[in-house]
Amino acid sequence: MRKFYVTTPIYYVNDVPHIGHAYTTVAADVMARYKRLCGYKTFFLTGTDEHGQKVEKAAKGQGMEPRELADRVVVRFKELWEKLNISYDHFVRTTDDYHEKAVQELFKLIQEKGDIYLGEYEGWYCTPCETFWSEGQQLEGNLCPDCGRPTERVKEPSYFFRLSKYQDALLKFYEEHPDFVLPESRMNEIVSFVKMGLKDLSISRTTFKWGIPVPGDPEHVIYVWFDALFNYVSAAGYGWNQERFETFWPADLHIIGKDILRFHAIYWPAFLMSAGLPLPKRVFAHGWWTVEGQKMSKSLRNVVDPHRLMEEYGTDALRYFLLREVPFGLDGDFSHRAMAHRINADLANDLGNLLYRSLTMVLKYFKGQVPQPCAGGGELEELARAVVKDLEDLMDQQAFNRALERTWDLVKGTNKYIDSSAPWALAKEKRKEELATVIYNILEGCRIIALLISPFMPEKAQEMWNQLGVEGDIEKASIEEAAWGGLKPDSQVKKGKPLFPRLDEKAIVEKIERELATSQEPEEEEITIDEFAKMKLVVAQVLRAEKVPKSKKLIKLLVDTGADRRTVVAGIGEHYQPQDLVGKKVVIVTNLKPVKLMGVESRGMILAAAWEDGMKVLEVPSDTPTGAEVR
Ligand code: ME8
Ligand code: MG
Repeated sequence: MRKFYVTTPIYYVNDVPHIGHAYTTVAADVMARYKRLCGYKTFFLTGTDEHGQKVEKAAKGQGMEPRELADRVVVRFKELWEKLNISYDHFVRTTDDYHEKAVQELFKLIQEKGDIYLGEYEGWYCTPCETFWSEGQQLEGNLCPDCGRPTERVKEPSYFFRLSKYQDALLKFYEEHPDFVLPESRMNEIVSFVKMGLKDLSISRTTFKWGIPVPGDPEHVIYVWFDALFNYVSAAGYGWNQERFETFWPADLHIIGKDILRFHAIYWPAFLMSAGLPLPKRVFAHGWWTVEGQKMSKSLRNVVDPHRLMEEYGTDALRYFLLREVPFGLDGDFSHRAMAHRINADLANDLGNLLYRSLTMVLKYFKGQVPQPCAGGGELEELARAVVKDLEDLMDQQAFNRALERTWDLVKGTNKYIDSSAPWALAKEKRKEELATVIYNILEGCRIIALLISPFMPEKAQEMWNQLGVEGDIEKASIEEAAWGGLKPDSQVKKGKPLFPRLDEKAIVEKIERELATSQEPEEEEITIDEFAKMKLVVAQVLRAEKVPKSKKLIKLLVDTGADRRTVVAGIGEHYQPQDLVGKKVVIVTNLKPVKLMGVESRGMILAAAWEDGMKVLEVPSDTPTGAEVR
């Protein structure tokens, strides 16, 4: 039996999943589903990358142990994959026992081979990218050449991998396997990079703890990329499930973003060569998404949160858009305008209407029973056969957008066939036999389309099958069923709701524009010291405090500011009892314009720290004199 092993990157757990992760994972899912449809024994791997300095730092920042952070974020990834119908066969976590053991074994193996030696690393490190940089590689001002953020100076003992030794072997490998890296332009980049010369690679760290210990030298933890890359063999069974490993390794396809190509196209094959393991067949580096024309920032994340997109547009529409809109390998921009437009044009109009009008006709002319054709499918049958055939190549090149485009030739072709064969005229003229053939062909076109879109839109494909009255689970179908004539005459169709409701594009665009206008964090405005000095802040003592009648929030305070006694109303009633405030020394803004709150005049404002569900009045030490100026 033919096999197919496809992977996504394993994602860092310092961050929750977003549209970029969804993109790669949907692409891998479509590949896995297509290969299953074609009868391959398929292994589809995804997972999380949990060790390293970046995750340790993120956990610390949230007051958690790294393992705890990982456990939480893993749930978020798994939830998203479930909603997106990701049919992975295995989810690897780099904290899994079998993985840690495999990494240590492979480290030892490579060490015994003489490819690992102890030295000292002196240079720079970018934690967000988990990458070592030399002085010369950095941008001016010690910035990471990949992400532009500041790097840290590192000087520590380190184990090194003899990467330099593999330069020629790598170049030879690339030459013999020109499509090891796709797109082609990326292969060229890698070849020129390697030709410039490879330095040995630091593969251990000593200045933090969160990682797999170096065997025999637990002061060191293994470099996170050495650890992470080996997930592709550990999860395939290396060292614990020999049968699976032998069935599936080497991987047929690693799908990644272009940001991590160097690790996959240079380090990874070199590690494997050293370990004496076969090399993966292909690394596909796809492009980068921006959002509404901008780099994806925290504030833009909400606008393209995958859960939200699925709620607004549906899971399959999202999957379709991601792979249809942008040629796989190129960068793209995600906008609601483009998405709504694509859904209406391709899914609601072309595909949804096709099914709807086809079922309407079979109901009208044949009481919903698939008629017995009296002749073959003619040109439509030819077209269907050609499309099915062309998809093989397109899918093998991961040309998802072209595969969908080609499938739409059949969608449009079937629509045209309806128009040109005009079943309504045949019905009027009572040409029953011709009518039966035409209707059968139209339905058969729909059935084949459902099968072809099933890797991309599994739910909608199933719905199409159900409506066409085809029995069974489309996920279990085989590509052989795309042969013409599979639809059973006399079976009963079950017309349902339109597959894709039409969207109001204008309303969507307006809504998003409003949201973008308000969601962007405002530029922080700078003020001068003179502007700050206009504010008069003094230490005041609370003399009396009482609730403002009929208000939950407001407390009326009588304060001594040193210069006078005045009433100040403060919105702190949900956090303080009035009597707790009496006697406290607090900070008051004294030159604020007076306002009336619930009928009480407030002359000044009390300073308090506020957060989501709490508030604390700023207190100054009790020996501070009343009236002292705060500057
Ligand atoms: O790099 N557009 O994990 P990571 C397209 N743990 N794809 C995007 C994207 C965007 N704007 N943002 C993220 C790591 N991605 C390592 C991998 S593998 C042995 C270790 C996708 O969480 C894209 O696939 O930073 C990219 O390569 C990946 O997320 C990076 O995920
Ligand atoms: Mg990253």
